[in-house]
Amino acid sequence: MNANVQRYNRVAIALHWVTAILMLYMLVWGEGLMKGQPWNKIAPTNPGLHVSLGLTVLVLTVLRLVWRLINPPPPDVPMSALQQQLSHAMHWAFYALLLLIPVSGLAGLGRWFTRHTDITAVSFFGLFDVPALPVPLLGGAHDLFTKLMWALLALHVLAALKHQFMDKDDLMKRMSLR
Ligand code: HEM
Ligand code: HEM
Repeated sequence: MNANVQRYNRVAIALHWVTAILMLYMLVWGEGLMKGQPWNKIAPTNPGLHVSLGLTVLVLTVLRLVWRLINPPPPDVPMSALQQQLSHAMHWAFYALLLLIPVSGLAGLGRWFTRHTDITAVSFFGLFDVPALPVPLLGGAHDLFTKLMWALLALHVLAALKHQFMDKDDLMKRMSLR
C-alpha cells in the first residue's frame, strides 16, 4: 500500500461524489420520472424533478471544470504512458457526457411538450420555467448519451477496482471521502 498517495482536494472530491450520486439516480430512475411507470414507486412521474436534478448536474459540472482549471488534480499514480492516456481520455469523455446529457435533455424538451399537451411548463425547483433548446437533433441523442454513460461508468469502476486490488496503488484513496 502507498501511504503517500496524493488526494484530490476536498471540493473536487465532494463534487465527484455528489455528481456521481445524482447521475446514478437519474440513470436508474430518470426514465420513470419523465414517462411514468405504474410499477415504479421509487420515482413516480415527476418531470420537474427530472429536469431540476439533471440541470443540477449541469451546473455542478460547469463549477467542477472551473474549479479543476484553478486547482489542477494531483499527479497520476505511477502507470504506463498508454494507461495514463486512456485514463485521461476516459475522464474527458465523462466531462463531455456530464455536459451533453443535460444539454441534450434541454433540446428534447420541445418534442416532449408536443407529446404531453397537458403540461405547458416544467420548472427548475419551482424557481423558473425551463426553456427548451431549439435543437431537436441533439434532443434525439439524449437516450444514446445515457447509454454511453452506463458503459463509461462500468469501465471506470472496473479500472478503479483493478488499481485498488491488482496494482495495489491505493488509487481509491485519492477520491475517498476520508
Ligand atoms: C456516474 C458516476 C461517476 C462519474 C460521472 C465519475 C466521474 C469521474 C471523473 C470525471 C473523474 C476524473 C476527475 C478529474 O481528474 O478531474 C473521476 C475520478 C475518479 N473516480 Fe469517478 N465517477 C463516477 C463514479 C465513480 C465510482 C462509483 C467510483 C468508485 C469505484 C469512482 C472512483 C473514482 C476514482 C478513484 C477517481 C480518481 C481517479 C484517478 O485518481 O485517476 N467514480 N471520476
Ligand atoms: C443527469 C442528467 C440526466 C439523465 C441521466 C437523464 C436520463 C434520462 C433517461 C434515462 C431518459 C429516458 C430515455 C429517453 O427517452 O430519452 C430521459 C428522458 C428525457 N429527459 Fe433526461 N436525463 C437527464 C437530464 C435531463 C434534463 C436536464 C432535461 C431537460 C432540461 C431532460 C429531459 C428529458 C426529456 C424531455 C426526456 C423524454 C425524452 C422523450 O421521451 O422524448 N433530461 N432522460
